Amino acid sequence: MDTKQKRTEVAAILKEPKLNEKFLVKGWVKAFRANRFLVLNDGSTINSLQIVVDFENFDEELIKQISFHSCVAVSGTLVESQGSGQSIELNAENIEILGGSNPEVYPIQPKKMTMEFLREKAHFRMRTNTMSAVFRIRHAIAYAIHKYYNDNGYYCMHSPIITGSDAEGAGEMFRVSTIDPDNVPKTEDGKADYSADFFGKATNLTVSGQLQAEIGALALGKVYTFGPTFRAENSNTSRHLAEFWMIEPEVAFNDIYDNMDLSEDFVKYLINYILDNYPDDLAILDQRIQNEEKNMKADLRRPMGLIETLKFVVGNNFERITYTEAINLLKNSKPYKKGRFEFEVEWGKDLSAEHERWLVEKHFKRPVIVRDYPKVFKAFYMRLNDDNETVAAMDVLFPYIGEVIGGSQREERYDVLKTRMEEMDVHADELWWYLELRQFGGCPHAGFGLGFERIVQFITGMSNIRDVIPFPRTPGSAEF
Ligand code: 4AD
Ligand code: MG
Repeated sequence: MDTKQKRTEVAAILKEPKLNEKFLVKGWVKAFRANRFLVLNDGSTINSLQIVVDFENFDEELIKQISFHSCVAVSGTLVESQGSGQSIELNAENIEILGGSNPEVYPIQPKKMTMEFLREKAHFRMRTNTMSAVFRIRHAIAYAIHKYYNDNGYYCMHSPIITGSDAEGAGEMFRVSTIDPDNVPKTEDGKADYSADFFGKATNLTVSGQLQAEIGALALGKVYTFGPTFRAENSNTSRHLAEFWMIEPEVAFNDIYDNMDLSEDFVKYLINYILDNYPDDLAILDQRIQNEEKNMKADLRRPMGLIETLKFVVGNNFERITYTEAINLLKNSKPYKKGRFEFEVEWGKDLSAEHERWLVEKHFKRPVIVRDYPKVFKAFYMRLNDDNETVAAMDVLFPYIGEVIGGSQREERYDVLKTRMEEMDVHADELWWYLELRQFGGCPHAGFGLGFERIVQFITGMSNIRDVIPFPRTPGSAEF
């Protein structure tokens, strides 16, 4: 092999095929038919390059080593394809095995495998068509998020991952400590003494970067965070992770209505970006869902294909209702009247996933933004409405996924915030700086958090959130 020859990525070859030129490609074998047609994918695109191997010209031992997902380097000449199914192919002149495999024991097989099985083989699953498409799109959504905010004059702000506060007040935190668990220093009254810990106080992994983003917004005007967040909630569902990524824009002078407008414009931008730039990956994922649903009962199938759903969401306004309206709709719904809801529908109780899905999938048949929730089950920082019962909170609900965004206008009135914190047992001594923001140059402001994996789930159509993050962390599971 000509060692000076530079590798060309398959994406570049397919984009502008230069016939009769010589190329060196490297990648993994997707198929090797009749010891002649080698399908090579290098991850640069969902599409593969067909390589024609005239096996008589190669050593038999070498040909034997070409197997599913073995890694090869091939140089040859690009020609017009003789067969159907592709327009070009590479005539192999030199083949080198970079990494052999063993199809007898390699856990991944060139046939349909369940997502559960692939999760246990997370070190290999990205080589499959479905997973590679998911992770290319995951990357592209991350890029589009930064592009959207940059183009709209926001500043990316990194909020801390280790913190002493519990932004959501739900107490679902992972402790960060260097204390020896077998030898915990104690205070006089026998409790763990965190003043002896690394940071001189009790600390945890953050559940949200919002409180710090508010500091940024009250100086830079428009900021957003994009970082990992951690929740020790014991939710074994297809929508929950213990470690997930969140995007949290925070904007000075915005009210709850500006916040809703921003959320709708933002997620539509992300969906459009993927529709425009990743049609081939989307097509594979769309086809996958169709195959999966082929043998399902009609009422279990999605009413629209994946791409059709994405186009529908960007092409229609999100419905906007209050929590009180949502409760009234639910009380008049068929499943409620027939006693089919598992969870109670009652003003003052949070909506559960089944209620959200009914509103979105059955009633409105489009994304819904619910606002003005009762203060009793919402966080301390949300702005109290004039009725003294509800807060200026908003949740964006999507088909199949449920809540993708949660946000609010923030309580900017010092006295009201102080009272709310006391009512909800939020320690003012921890959040002294948050209160001071209201005493010195405060202003109305609003923001929200988009669950990154949830939007990736929606755009890729994957039914389990564990299949849109490379290495999921869930209760009882932190492999890889
Ligand atoms: O609704 P949440 O809890 O809101 C906040 O954390 C606010 N501080 C955001 C803000 O106003 N800046 O979480 C925001 C979003 C949810 O709507 C959901 O999409 C996602 O984060 N999320 C999760 N995603 C995966 N696994 C979990 N366990 C999640 N919990 C929340
Ligand atoms: Mg929420």
